[in-house]
Amino acid sequence: MEVIVQRDYAEMSKVAAQIVAELLNTKPNAVLGMATGSTPLGLYQELVRLHNKEQLDFSRVTTFNLDEYVGLPMSHPQSYHYFMHEHFFQHVNIPPHNINIPSGTTSNYSAFCEWYERRIGETGGIDLQILGIGTDGHIAFNEPTSSLSSRTRLKTLSKQTIDDNARFFERREDVPVYAITMGVGTILNARKLVLVASGKSKAKAIAQAVEGPVTSMVTASALQLHRDAIVIVDEEAASGLTMREYYDFIYAAKPAAPRA
Ligand code: PGA
Repeated sequence: MEVIVQRDYAEMSKVAAQIVAELLNTKPNAVLGMATGSTPLGLYQELVRLHNKEQLDFSRVTTFNLDEYVGLPMSHPQSYHYFMHEHFFQHVNIPPHNINIPSGTTSNYSAFCEWYERRIGETGGIDLQILGIGTDGHIAFNEPTSSLSSRTRLKTLSKQTIDDNARFFERREDVPVYAITMGVGTILNARKLVLVASGKSKAKAIAQAVEGPVTSMVTASALQLHRDAIVIVDEEAASGLTMREYYDFIYAAKPAAPRA
């Protein structure tokens, strides 16, 4: 795992966007895994800027989103369909038929989940998956005790996640209790993982995910099993890491390091 510590949220977002841009410049028809939440917003803003100012082209890109709330129609301002359209898709040139987001309103969830997994496979698999992390250590909505080989399925949200996400809804009771989410196994199949985290509230989850044991109690710790996982954090989110100097040393030495 590579850990990159940046000064603040803006720098964290830029470094993550640069990794996505480098992929698109070498593979214009890349398959991107997208994440929602407040953390990747800066990364999306930077990608939109690169699209507008530096002609970063998304015309051959395919996307798969990690998750969606069950029961919210696409037009609901807190649905992840709405979020992605609002903050990213309407600002870049991804063909609409290349955009895939789990349905929160299907009449048959198990058939939909199977189809979603199949569809990812048909496109050749996800080249780069963007991830956030929950304060309970989740990736996507893979809450504590999720199987580390899980696939796309329905999940019940943890109390912690419902509390964390209540800020986006009028009342706590309005937060959906269920979500449809890619599994940890689905995520680990992506060829590259880029996890972004910012702020003090993420420090404990990041320390557990990066330096703790691999455990389904912190599903982000499964990134330790992946051969190309990059964790990009700001100073506050890095504050619980004990190997901080080592990460900085590797990052600073990178341009001169022998190439694999
Ligand atoms: P956040 O959510 O970016 O809004 O903190 C992260 C997550 O729950 O994955």
